Amino acid sequence: LRILVASSEAHPLIKTGGLADVSASLPAALRQLGHDARLVIPGYPLAMRQLREPKPLGEIRVPGYRTAIRLVEGRHPDHDLPVYLVDAPEYFAREGNPYCDPTGRDWGDNPDRFMLFCRVLALMAQGLPAIGWRPDVFHGNDWQTGLAPTLLQEAPWSPARVFTIHNLAYQGLFDRATFDRLELPPALWNLAGLEFHQRLSFIKGGIVFSERINTVSPTYAEEVRTARFGCGLDGLLRQIGQRFSGILNGIDYQVWNPAGDPLILQNYDAERFGLKTENKLDVQRELGLPRSEDAFVLGYVGRLVEQKGVDLIQAILPELLQDPRVQVMILASGERRSEQALLELAAANPRQIGVYIGYDETRAHRIEAGCDAFLMPSRFEPCGLNQIYSLRYGTPPIVHRTGGLVDTVVPATPENLAKGTATGFVFDEPTPAALLGAVRWAMRLYRDDPDGWRRLAVTGMSQDFSWESSARRYIELYNDAIADRMALEHARSA
Ligand code: ADP
Ligand code: GLC
Repeated sequence: LRILVASSEAHPLIKTGGLADVSASLPAALRQLGHDARLVIPGYPLAMRQLREPKPLGEIRVPGYRTAIRLVEGRHPDHDLPVYLVDAPEYFAREGNPYCDPTGRDWGDNPDRFMLFCRVLALMAQGLPAIGWRPDVFHGNDWQTGLAPTLLQEAPWSPARVFTIHNLAYQGLFDRATFDRLELPPALWNLAGLEFHQRLSFIKGGIVFSERINTVSPTYAEEVRTARFGCGLDGLLRQIGQRFSGILNGIDYQVWNPAGDPLILQNYDAERFGLKTENKLDVQRELGLPRSEDAFVLGYVGRLVEQKGVDLIQAILPELLQDPRVQVMILASGERRSEQALLELAAANPRQIGVYIGYDETRAHRIEAGCDAFLMPSRFEPCGLNQIYSLRYGTPPIVHRTGGLVDTVVPATPENLAKGTATGFVFDEPTPAALLGAVRWAMRLYRDDPDGWRRLAVTGMSQDFSWESSARRYIELYNDAIADRMALEHARSA
């Protein structure tokens, strides 16, 4: 199959979260299976600088736009994967975070930026002469690509459309005046189209106008059909029935593999689990904590947003730290208020809390490798990659029973421990008390039963969350979408 994968992020070209990891590793896995997958992202400066063998394809004309828009074709830095960058400086030539300005506020022209992106995507999906390639499937990811399927719906020809929801909480909602300014067909302003509570919804464009829609874990796919997790779209997601499913993300074991990871001090694997301690000592030193093999070290890496439940971690710290042998390491960035609060906590507890505010790949690997257990108390989690990385690094995750966390972590119940299947600790409610209970449960096992702990960690290390089987599921999804598209075309021409 020929598949055009579109996303606003792709590791290592530009990344704010897990979307970037998936956008690079899924098409790479599809190519491994023999399919011609190609990736397109906006031409952010960071991406332009890192693209391998860049080759300008010349200017493309986007009806209604006077500004110069160029396509650049190149190779992904780590994979055998063709990548196209949409080089539109007026929209994308801004350093730093792709969505917000240096003060953390969303760029005011985000709807215009991603509208333009979608217009280019729709042209590419129909086959651009400059590329000389036309996909069988257009695969959009998240709201930034949501209007491409919408535009294709209006086009004379379209490939099959697949749309993946990585996080339903981000919908790309804007006011009516924006809808008018973007010159979208006025007929789309209704509930069966792009309208969502009197606002323009980019994500609805992807959901309504694609043959197949999926999200990134089976459990989250169930959850978002309910009012509690549906962010107002549960009705629509129920309504589309079988067109909507969940496929668990894979991870890239080339990037996340403790046995060969160049970013950590000491490589190790399940057979040499004991060597992991060297990484603990190293990261303690790096974060200015006392170096102690005996400490029980908990780690967190992630964005500081409501979703991730970092406030729950903060809430249990006073109690947790009463045990002088507990240390907590946090690598995070996001809401300024939370960043400040974490820094203050660290300053007040210099022997037990290490905080690094910022986005830092190397530190993320070192914390995964150096901690004893990993905290992921997310209120909701479409898939979550960090808990899968920590499984691989022998750092058992402590997770809330939600979304992809359910689908990836086997709870350390007495039964599962006895069977040898347990890989982590799972708690039921997103409350400080429940989190604290799970941390104590983990700590007890760590202290009282080192062999049991090692077995749990090593079982996690040997789980297989590589892309191959998930990539095959995507191929099935693409084929289903193609069959639907063809049936539709057939009906239209009959
Ligand atoms: P989400 O996509 O919701 O942020 P995931 O668990 O799917 O959550 O993916 C998060 C990804 O972003 C992981 O690869 C993680 O290592 C990375 N990450 C998040 N915050 C940071 C940070 N401050 N520094 C380095 N990497 C980070
Ligand atoms: C989103 C979700 C996260 C998921 C990632 C990749 O950012 O929040 O759970 O792992 O996308 O699909």
